[in-house]
Amino acid sequence: MAQFNLPANSIIGKGKTYYAGTGAKNTRRFHIYRWDPDSGKHPHMDTYEIDMSACGPMVLDALLKIKNEVDPTLTFRRSCREGVCGSCAMNIDGTNSLACTKSISDVAGEIYIYPLPHVSVVKDLVPDLTHFYAQYASVKPWLQTITPPPERERLQSKEDRARLDGMYECILCACCSTSCPSYWWNGERYLGPSVLLQAYRWIADSRDEFTGERLDNLEDPFRLYRCHTIMNCTNTCPKGLNPARAIAEIKKMMVKRR
Ligand code: SF4
Ligand code: SF4
Ligand code: FES
Repeated sequence: MAQFNLPANSIIGKGKTYYAGTGAKNTRRFHIYRWDPDSGKHPHMDTYEIDMSACGPMVLDALLKIKNEVDPTLTFRRSCREGVCGSCAMNIDGTNSLACTKSISDVAGEIYIYPLPHVSVVKDLVPDLTHFYAQYASVKPWLQTITPPPERERLQSKEDRARLDGMYECILCACCSTSCPSYWWNGERYLGPSVLLQAYRWIADSRDEFTGERLDNLEDPFRLYRCHTIMNCTNTCPKGLNPARAIAEIKKMMVKRR
């Protein structure tokens, strides 16, 4: 009979518990994924009890408090603290979100935090996004033109500019792509919702003159057509964007040009 075993390094063990000091009355428990590739050990979950009367309201506030006051080895990315840079994306309470905009009070009970799913982990909550960025670069995310540049700038009507709403706001956090089952199984070849949203951002730009080439680049059973409209991407986007709609628009353009 076939026997299936998880690879040893995917088995998550139990780690340490750090209690809040005596006298802390309003506490919340954070269970956080820990893995140090240099240790040679399996990943484990550490538990941190935090006194909420001395902590800010967001999940990132709790992570910073833990790092600054309890355990400096906890590793995660963050920069802007305002939902703008996309670097604090992680899986919180079962959903990919930004730690800086996810309110602790929105999570009932104990809070479980993991790195973004289905990507390699660099350490603790830091995902390896090398492949994701290479895929982003593959759609040439910049204005491409053949006509000579005008004296001042390439103008755009208000209506054409409005077509970019819902796309230019994407912060490339990868929450959507790493929540997409098609991307989990075919991430090597399927571009995923985030990169396809970015691809459409340039296809839809009235100033760009490489629409045909951009569509040619996506005309592929894997790069575009692995999207099966499961909609996890749109449900999870912390910026309220709709990558599934952008993908549908690209597919419509593919059909139209045949
Ligand atoms: S709609 Fe497409 S891109 Fe979005 S989660 Fe589903 S399969 Fe992935
Ligand atoms: S579409 Fe949303 S979830 Fe996806 S990368 Fe952009 S901001 Fe993040
Ligand atoms: S720290 Fe920049 S988006 Fe969270």
